[in-house]
Amino acid sequence: MRSKKNLISFDKKSRVFELTNSEITYLMKIEESEVLAHIYFGKCVAGYGDKKNYPRRDRGFSGDVPLNADRSFSKDTLPQEYSTNGEMDFRTPASIIRRRNGSTLLDLRFDSYSIQQGKPRLTGLPQAYILAEEEAETLIITLKDRELAIYIDLLYTIYTDRAVIIRSVNVRNESGEPIQIEKLASLQLDFTNSGRFNEVIALPGAHVQERQISRQAITSGRKVIESRRGTSSHHMNSFIAVVDKHTTEFTGEAIGINFVYSGNHAFELEKDAIDQLRIVGGINSHLFSWKLASGKSFQTPEMILSYSAQGLNKMSQVNHRLLRERVARGRFQYKERPILVNNWEATYFDFTSEKLHAIVDEAKELGIEMFVLDDGWFGKRDSDNSSLGDWFEYQGKLKNGLKGIADYVHQQGLQFGLWLEPEMISIDSELYRKHPDYLMQEPGRTPSSSRDQHVLDFSREEVRQVIEKQLRSILDTVEIDYIKWDMNRSLSDPFSAALGENQGEVMHRYMLGVYELMEHLIADYPEILWEGCSGGGGRFDAGLIYYMSQSWTSDNTDAVERMRIQYGTSLAYPVSAMTAHVSASPNHQTGRETSLKTRGDVAMGGVLGYELDLTQLTEEEKRITRLQIEHYRQLRQTVQYGEFYRLSSPFEGNTAAWMFVSPNKEEAVLFLGRILASAQPVFNEVRLAGLEESAVYVEKKTGNKFSGSELMTVGLYYPDFYGDFQTELLYFTKI
Ligand code: GLA
Repeated sequence: MRSKKNLISFDKKSRVFELTNSEITYLMKIEESEVLAHIYFGKCVAGYGDKKNYPRRDRGFSGDVPLNADRSFSKDTLPQEYSTNGEMDFRTPASIIRRRNGSTLLDLRFDSYSIQQGKPRLTGLPQAYILAEEEAETLIITLKDRELAIYIDLLYTIYTDRAVIIRSVNVRNESGEPIQIEKLASLQLDFTNSGRFNEVIALPGAHVQERQISRQAITSGRKVIESRRGTSSHHMNSFIAVVDKHTTEFTGEAIGINFVYSGNHAFELEKDAIDQLRIVGGINSHLFSWKLASGKSFQTPEMILSYSAQGLNKMSQVNHRLLRERVARGRFQYKERPILVNNWEATYFDFTSEKLHAIVDEAKELGIEMFVLDDGWFGKRDSDNSSLGDWFEYQGKLKNGLKGIADYVHQQGLQFGLWLEPEMISIDSELYRKHPDYLMQEPGRTPSSSRDQHVLDFSREEVRQVIEKQLRSILDTVEIDYIKWDMNRSLSDPFSAALGENQGEVMHRYMLGVYELMEHLIADYPEILWEGCSGGGGRFDAGLIYYMSQSWTSDNTDAVERMRIQYGTSLAYPVSAMTAHVSASPNHQTGRETSLKTRGDVAMGGVLGYELDLTQLTEEEKRITRLQIEHYRQLRQTVQYGEFYRLSSPFEGNTAAWMFVSPNKEEAVLFLGRILASAQPVFNEVRLAGLEESAVYVEKKTGNKFSGSELMTVGLYYPDFYGDFQTELLYFTKI
């Protein structure tokens, strides 16, 4: 490890900025005419001698830098660190700023820089943090418009020992008149034609089909990977990776780009005429326009760049560790998460105290640690068309009320959890009857409804306060150990009664409002385990992890589809954040029948829970469930906090395999799954990873002993599965 002094340096002679630790190096250079150029990001460089200067060439129709007559130096092709509209850089700009006269022309030049110990805190935004000043340094490079006092600060944080760079941008308007920010990306990354990154991996999907891995060649022209739904979305997650076409799970270069934000996002990739790649990422400029008065500043959310020279697994592990250790917070950050049963798929809205007590009694017998009361306990909620916004208990639905069920659960020795959907309003609600103007809508225009509900205008403080007050009164009167914070629709009708002409600010102000309310509640109720949810995985992102320790991965609990969803999710997010439940068979989303073993083995690949009517289990199923829970308790630490490896992709073939290794490499858990059976099956094999080469491991079920190196080189055959949808979970301990 380098000493902290060496993390960031600026060489006055070459005018090169260097951010380096033992894993990575990031290089930039102030070129002629004070243009800031990108040189390199990747594997750590032992020493950079400033010899790789960007070639000069006079290209037809590529203009010159204003006030520089050198026709061979043009922003049209130069790898820049941060661009704007104009200056004859015709590629995708990172920023567009409109001035009062209508012009969007700026000319950004290097102005100054500072290097700070540690990492400055951002207000009101989720972020990566530090525990001690010594663990990171931050470089702030200020670009300034050549004519006006408009400053763009580029922030780069490097930690002493992580293969990550945290980037964000802050614009300061000191021009004496308001400006309109039409676009402000959190990062730009320009690559020359080195062939290093020619494919992009994204995580598209849909509700009940989240984060499906898609890997595509980056071809000429522009490609946009984005969400316009007001959330990070089921449809296109806020994470991408760029890789070489030969990169595998274990070899080759990969850069993960993870947006620490839960609203609209866009990653724009553009390959230019000479095969250079530009990546611009941040808040989606679609429906975004922010008025910035003179004397004010605007800070973007952060982007996490995670680098690996050893394939995608390493990139994911770097990412997982950062999210777990320096983004997640709170009492549960490193705590084993309780095994819960949730009544949603068991009863939906149709429950009574008797029914819930019976589930709790059974849960206790089986060793389950928490009971979660899902939707339907408040207002007059018997279906999904009413009562959102009425966060007081449904009088008469439960015999002794909410407190009665919470007390009953606690008396049985279980913890009690509750479902909420704070950002929403039903037309059929007391809140709406009192405050019909609280939802996002343009006055005089009927807003779009979705699941019979509307979005509250959380950009307004008085709206948030009404909800906060109601939530606090529940949290203060009922003993609650866990909250599931749901959000069941996309945003539409982005219009706030409070914003006058500045309606381009609604989407972002909404997100800031949500974050503010979450921050208030997690600060005042630190004992609670908070789980994020948005119809399953619609807001599964690096921003939410700052507030909520875990998230419901998908409303799809089908074990086979879950193999893919969890596999895809693992590319960007740690297992400790990914909840996974065993549900009934046939599955409610797909109608597929799978064994209780298969459902359990898959759900044990995340934070395990149950979501079915436990009172309907046969004695044999109870026996299996009891064993699963006992087993998971033993594996839980390794699964939730170990190193995760993807071994065989269910997106590519008929098998899925992944494993977890404890940090001291003493324990490992291997999951093997085969999707469809065949009368003439191939013999599938798997090679393990992350073990200690010379150690001896014993597999618990068979008692077989192996050297770590044997498991990682020779490997194992899959069991001789019979039938569709078969799985096995193997548990290795070092002796
Ligand atoms: C969403 C959640 C489900 C459940 C329902 C309740 O769809 O993802 O788990 O809580 O809402 O309405």
